[in-house]
Amino acid sequence: MDFKHDPSTDFRPVEGLSRDQAAEEVEALRAGIRHHDYLYYVKAEPAISDAVYDQLFDRLQTLEAEFPSLQDKNSPTQRVGAEPVSALDKREHRAPMLSLESVQDAEAVAAFIDRLQRDAGDEDQGPVALVLEPKFDGLSVELIYDQGAFSSGSTRGDGSTGEDISHNLRQVTAVPMRLHKAPRYLAVRAEIFMPRSGFTALNRERVQRGDEPFANPRNAAAGLMRQLDPNRVAGRPLDLFCYELLELDGGETPADHPATHPATHHELLQRLPDWGLKTCPLNRSAEDLDDVRAYHAELEGQRDALDYEIDGVVIKLNDRARREQLGVRSRSPRWALAWKFAPREEITTLEEITVQVGRTGILTPIALLQPVDVGGVTVSRATLHNADEVQRKDVRPGDQVRIIRAGDVIPEIAERVEQPGQTRAEPFTMPEQCPVCSTEIIRNGAYHRCPAGLACEAQLVGHITHFASRDALDIDGLGEETARQLVERGLVHDLADLYPLAEGELAAMEGFGDTAARNLVQAIDRARKPSLQCFLYALGIRQVGGRMAAVLARTFGSLDALIKADREALERTPEIGPEIAASVIAFFDNEDNREVIEKMRTAGVEVEDAADQEADQAHDSDSLSGKTFVFTGELEHYSRREAQSAVEARGGRATSDVSSATDYVVKGKDPGSKAERAQDLGIETLNEAQFERLLEQG
Ligand code: IVH
Repeated sequence: MDFKHDPSTDFRPVEGLSRDQAAEEVEALRAGIRHHDYLYYVKAEPAISDAVYDQLFDRLQTLEAEFPSLQDKNSPTQRVGAEPVSALDKREHRAPMLSLESVQDAEAVAAFIDRLQRDAGDEDQGPVALVLEPKFDGLSVELIYDQGAFSSGSTRGDGSTGEDISHNLRQVTAVPMRLHKAPRYLAVRAEIFMPRSGFTALNRERVQRGDEPFANPRNAAAGLMRQLDPNRVAGRPLDLFCYELLELDGGETPADHPATHPATHHELLQRLPDWGLKTCPLNRSAEDLDDVRAYHAELEGQRDALDYEIDGVVIKLNDRARREQLGVRSRSPRWALAWKFAPREEITTLEEITVQVGRTGILTPIALLQPVDVGGVTVSRATLHNADEVQRKDVRPGDQVRIIRAGDVIPEIAERVEQPGQTRAEPFTMPEQCPVCSTEIIRNGAYHRCPAGLACEAQLVGHITHFASRDALDIDGLGEETARQLVERGLVHDLADLYPLAEGELAAMEGFGDTAARNLVQAIDRARKPSLQCFLYALGIRQVGGRMAAVLARTFGSLDALIKADREALERTPEIGPEIAASVIAFFDNEDNREVIEKMRTAGVEVEDAADQEADQAHDSDSLSGKTFVFTGELEHYSRREAQSAVEARGGRATSDVSSATDYVVKGKDPGSKAERAQDLGIETLNEAQFERLLEQG
């Protein structure tokens, strides 16, 4: 019986089979199915029709059902009907799953290749050998095979520990459950992704069912991989490419096992498919900058025609022993570099510029766009930041504009596209009165602000939403829409009004029933004993983000102590500069604010003292948490101190020296040598506008 080469489907009746005969046939069927999976997924050269494949598969299922003792976790049939898990377990990686240093321009690539040539080249051997691969925009995973059988797989997580997603990976048909001629032990790194075609079909299906569509293929793949129930993953269009070795036969270096250890990356890429693991057909060998440039240009040109998303190319040193010598930085190896493509762009019509009023009263012009797909994401609005920016870009309703998704996330208008002969609308001007409450607007540098505070409904809605957000008081069910209704119906005039809300009042609101109303009242009730840190953050004091709230809570211990604190005491606190001190003082000096706090206390709010709280507990979802910034040159809207505080208020750190631990270098006017150093190290540099955007995301 050999279903690999002779897939005859003329099966004997099951009833007449002995257990031994069945066992033999089951083995042959599994081997045959794996072989055809391999031809189909790895080689992309199927040898049998789908119909014949299905018959082999059905036969195997029948035999396993008839002879339960023959069942096996790694049988191809086990991909269907698997059991859900109750939670995703943590799993430590065999070797750190590093990330890649990434750059945007050819000069940085040239510097990288020079460095490799110098540190890892061989003088008499000519140019250093490189391997080029696409940079896949999917989900990085570790796959482990023990004795040739798939044993587990996990997400990258923080690089040293990820989440066990074995149950879901077993559903991905391109992940083999058994390897060919496999080493005893193998841990590889691969990218799981959803092909574009499958993504479109899946989203169409979701929309028809009334589900939210996924934003892009990456999110879809990542979302599926984190499911608890593998049946949701079964049959989904998912695929993978393998690209690195994490461990082989118990060790990572050739000394551990010279026979099976590939000496070069090129060799590994050839070995992987022999084992049954799929690699990308676009991988290429190279030796100098010209090769890399050509490859980058070729892939960028091909990008839209590919059935999977890529966002750059990865340049890797070929020689694995030399890689060892070069070693790694804290998060990325010295032997590899990602050269990203230019951000995705698209042209569309700007239909209207509206003005939004935020929590702090700042007016933000928003461009409403004719919806356009920018690299897989539908974009229909983009912030224009402030009046100066609108003026600088000179965009008006009716104009054609170029939209880019910088860093592949937030869409922005890069520029106006000139249309000769077109009559244009009048230039945009900021309203003189608040579009929400009609209060006279005041201008402060680049910013326009409605000074009405909580008397302005937009600001009140913003404050309520912030107050209830996860890192503040975490009131479930109180999002922006609900906040808007509470304000419009006159139920809430200040934050303290939230506490006495009654179920009956809420149940009358749109989209609310008795249950939602009861849940919200209970959620508000649970927010009556907030920690000092969360409460301070929730108040929305200007300049006081998660990290500053933690510092203030730790230093002053109780709300009353902070209310009483004078400017000197505040300024004595490390990390608190004059601007933050002034803002805290102004907030508690304001009679309305003090009244609202009193009103909350009367409603039963008790803010817990910080004394017995864990000392350094910053908000873990701070938008810049863990990021290190270096500033160079002069910024237009910030003093150096203010910029640093802004970073710290979002959980980030500002340091003075550029090193490989630096995440961003912010470049102002007349930048110094730090900007060059950033470039050498391939660290992302931001201009002031990009920096502000990053701050706004928080
Ligand atoms: S090699 C130690 N190769 O890019 C080398 N990574 O920021 C690290 N990625 O999370 C990985 N395509 O998911 C490598 N051809 C490729 C890649 C690739 C995409 C991802 C990977 C990682 C991210 C790095």
